[in-house]
Amino acid sequence: MNGEFSLESNPLSISFAGLTLANPTILASGILGYSAESLNRVAKGGAGAVVTKSVGIAPRAGYSNPTVVQAESGLINAMGLPNPGIEVYSEEIRFSKTVLRVPVIASVFGYSAEEYAVVAKRAVEAGADAVELNVSCPHVKQTGAEIGQSPKFLSEVVQTVKAAISKPLIVKLSPNVADITVLARAAVEAGADALTAVNTLKAMAIDAETMRPILSNVRGGLSGAAVKPVALRCVYDIHEALGDVPVVGCGGVANWRDAVEFFLAGASAVQIGTAVAENTEVFQAVTKGVETYLRRKHYGSVKEIVGLAHRK
Ligand SMILES: Cc1cc2nc3c(=O)[nH]c(=O)nc-3n(C[C@H](O)[C@H](O)[C@H](O)COP(=O)(O)O)c2cc1C
Repeated sequence: MNGEFSLESNPLSISFAGLTLANPTILASGILGYSAESLNRVAKGGAGAVVTKSVGIAPRAGYSNPTVVQAESGLINAMGLPNPGIEVYSEEIRFSKTVLRVPVIASVFGYSAEEYAVVAKRAVEAGADAVELNVSCPHVKQTGAEIGQSPKFLSEVVQTVKAAISKPLIVKLSPNVADITVLARAAVEAGADALTAVNTLKAMAIDAETMRPILSNVRGGLSGAAVKPVALRCVYDIHEALGDVPVVGCGGVANWRDAVEFFLAGASAVQIGTAVAENTEVFQAVTKGVETYLRRKHYGSVKEIVGLAHRK
C-alpha cells in the first residue's frame, strides 16, 4: 500500500454501466436538483453521484399549489415536471461539471422518442456523464405512464435515445405496472445500460374537512418509507429475471440498513430522494453505515453483497 486513495481499493466504490462512483449513494431526480449550486451541496453531503431534476425540451411551469402533501410515512407529490427547458438547464449542467467531483446524471423527459433524444443529446453535449430517462412520472400525461407502461413505446424511446448519445443510458422504471420485469427486459433489449427502480407509486390524499382532493392535480406519486417494500420487491424481481443488468434501487432509502436491503435484493447502488429533503448529510451516514456493516459481516466490498438475498 502506498497510502494513496484509489477507487480500486475502496470497498465502497462501485462501477456500473461505465460509471465509477466512490460510494453507492446517488441523489434521486427532483430533489435539490434544480441548479448546479444545489447539486453541489448534495455532492458535498457525500453523494457518490447526482441526478438532475427531470428536464424537457421546453420550459414547463408545473402545477399550481398544493403540489406536495405529507402522507402517513412519505410524501405525495404532483409537481408537474416544472423545469426551465434544456437550453437554459444546459448551463446548469455545464457549470455543475466545473464544480462537482462526482458524476452528474441528467434526467430527461419528452413527449416523443425524438424529443427524448434531442434533450438527452443536449444534456450530454453540456457535459452530463450519463442520462437517466424518466419514463415513469405518474402524474404528467403522455410522458409518464403512457411510455413507461408500454414495452413497445419504451423500446422505441430507448432505441432512439441510445442511437443519439455515446454516454451510459439508464432507464427509470415505474412501479405502476403489473409486471415490472416485462418493462425492464424491453428497456435492456432496446439498449439500456442500467435501470433505476423505481419512480413514485400512484397515490392521492383527500381532506376530510374540505371533502376535496388535496393536490391541485388530484393524483400524485407516493415516495419515502411507505414505498420501500414495493421498490425492494421491484429490484428483487428484476434481478431474478435479468441477472447481471445493473439496477439502481430507489424508494424509501433513509439509512444504511435500507441501502443494504437494496444491495441484497440486487441493486448495485441506491438513489435517495425524500430523505434528502430532511437531511442532506444522509449520504454520508448511509455510506458510513454500509462500510461498518461490510466489515462486521466480513465482506470486502459492496459488489460482493449485490443479489445475495437470491441465494438458495
Ligand atoms: C418532490 C419530488 C419531486 C420528484 N421529481 C422527480 C423528477 O423530476 N423526475 C424523476 O424521475 N423522479 C422524480 N421524483 C421521484 C424520485 O426521484 C424517486 O424516484 C422517488 O421519490 C422515490 O425515492 P425516495 O423514496 O427516496 O424519494 C420526485 C420525487 C419527489 C418527492
